[in-house]
Amino acid sequence: MVFQPQLKILISRDDIAKAVDRLACEIERDCQGKQLLLIGVLKGSFVFMADLIRRLDLPLEVEFIKLSSYGAARESSGKVRVVQGVKTPVKGRDVLVIEDIVDTGITISFLLDYLEKKRPASLKLCTLADKPSRRRVPVPIDYLGFSVPDKFIVGYGLDCDEKFRNLPHIYTLED
Ligand code: IMP
Ligand code: MG
Repeated sequence: MVFQPQLKILISRDDIAKAVDRLACEIERDCQGKQLLLIGVLKGSFVFMADLIRRLDLPLEVEFIKLSSYGAARESSGKVRVVQGVKTPVKGRDVLVIEDIVDTGITISFLLDYLEKKRPASLKLCTLADKPSRRRVPVPIDYLGFSVPDKFIVGYGLDCDEKFRNLPHIYTLED
């Protein structure tokens, strides 16, 4: 990678891999005998989800949902809408939502409400990262990779204006 002075490694790929293993163990322990429907929130969760499902020794299905709230900015607009919904019926399913990061909580609480209305058998949330200091809406996180400080992070699927998703570590983006 071309040297990027504004990027500082916050979480290394090795530590990410260990967290993915731990999360897979926790999910397997809790979800024995279930056929999970994993719903990844596009686009940020796709790298995490790809690694996580390959560690999960459970029968599962994969769906994606696309929401919009951020546009190209770093702050949530506070208005969330579904840009592309799930095709697989959610009613009666054991749903596990896979998110990249919970920041204010506005996006994911909208999504959990939206999915709850479709009457799943169970609804849980797994997020790679959490920025608890920024929370504006309470969010029940069932499976958490990392709690991160109040800094903008990129890499491992997370972007800034669509850049840096391909980086293997998680970095802070300094101004
Ligand atoms: P929230 O609605 O404020 O919780 O925003 C959540 C969404 O904003 C996440 O799904 C991310 O896509 C994006 N986001 C929030 N913080 C960051 C960050 O530090 N880096 C990259 N994306 C972020
Ligand atoms: Mg996201």
